[in-house]
Amino acid sequence: MDTTVLSPKAAAYLQLEEQYGAHNYHPLPVVLEKGEGVFLWDVDGKRYYDFLSGYSAVNQGHCHPAIIASLIDQATKLTLTSRAFHNNLLGEYEQFITRYFGYDKVLPMNTGVEGGETAIKLARRWAYVKKGVPENKAKVIFAEGNFWGRTLAAISASTDPSSYKDFGPFMPGFDLVPYNNTVALEKAFQDPNVCAFMVEPIQGEAGVVVPDEGYLQKVRELCTKYNVLFIADEIQTGLARTGKMLACDHENVRPDILILGKALSGGVLPVSAVLADDFIMLNIQPGEHGSTYGGNPLACAVAITALTVLKEEKMTENAAAMGELLRSELAKLQSPFITTIRGKGLLNAIVIKHDNPDASWDLCLALKDRGLLAKPTHGDKIRFAPPLLITKEQILECVQIIGDALKTLA
Ligand SMILES: Cc1ncc(COP(=O)(O)O)c(C=O)c1O
Repeated sequence: MDTTVLSPKAAAYLQLEEQYGAHNYHPLPVVLEKGEGVFLWDVDGKRYYDFLSGYSAVNQGHCHPAIIASLIDQATKLTLTSRAFHNNLLGEYEQFITRYFGYDKVLPMNTGVEGGETAIKLARRWAYVKKGVPENKAKVIFAEGNFWGRTLAAISASTDPSSYKDFGPFMPGFDLVPYNNTVALEKAFQDPNVCAFMVEPIQGEAGVVVPDEGYLQKVRELCTKYNVLFIADEIQTGLARTGKMLACDHENVRPDILILGKALSGGVLPVSAVLADDFIMLNIQPGEHGSTYGGNPLACAVAITALTVLKEEKMTENAAAMGELLRSELAKLQSPFITTIRGKGLLNAIVIKHDNPDASWDLCLALKDRGLLAKPTHGDKIRFAPPLLITKEQILECVQIIGDALKTLA
């Protein structure tokens, strides 16, 4: 652990983590203690622009006052009942979110990966009771490069060795096709036991891989033609991040199963949701799926407000406009070290080209020194995904910081 650049105070926090925590992350050496809007502060009082937004959980900005007010208000009344009993907020939330996204029903969970697991269980159940797939033969197709979490099922679908290596045996009934390839998808759909295709409209963790225009429409068309459920994992792309409420909205497609997480709570607590219509959702009976915390009143109160402020504060529109500005200003830098600038709305990435294999990491350190926090993903890619309320002036200042930091690579 290199703590040479840290204050003694910050170094002490790192040392604690190093000694007592599992080493399953490799964070940038910065210790944060406060957040507000697009900014974070470290334990030494230095301010940073947040260009990760908690992996897109903090779309609404850090400690959004309305979301925090809902949290505090509800926390003083009732936080958890379990689903053994009813609570006075679950029904209201279910009505609110199903109307918001236009589905018959919602199944509330907590983390994103639980949302993915839930969607797959719903699809498998539908396969057996509705589609007529023989018992235990249902297949779910995923796209290469996918990321939907760290459970055994999620890593069974992964093509990234750092996710799955030495964690087998893996979940059967999963198959892969290349992302952004509908020819391969149609071929896979020839198998009548295929019940679902689960896909991210833009692959976030893979490095903000944006498929060709028309991909999602073709996926929709093929799913309908072959009686396969289209599961959209919008955990990272959803909730205004890409400049539309859902990334699927860019192509006006409606998935059969929609998975939401992350910004559903504005980064306040883990809240995920799976939305579908009755013909899928009502195949699950009492006792067949659930979670102690799923649908808890605290989460319901927070999620209603988190969704409300997205619309009230026009974050979709701002994400679209600020994303355009960010990409065009980054292009103007004409840096020899950036080979690609890509993304939609405020879900963006740059791809770094440099002889030094650690150049992306070094660049993130240089950004940190200049007051902007970002993190490499898959080696040479750096995601730029600030909270959605970032202003034009702030974007311009951030691009200046990025341009300045890029010079350190020369
Ligand atoms: C597209 C996508 N799906 C699912 C997940 C998993 O969410 P969680 O970490 O809340 O389990 C992530 C997390 O980054 C994600 O980006």
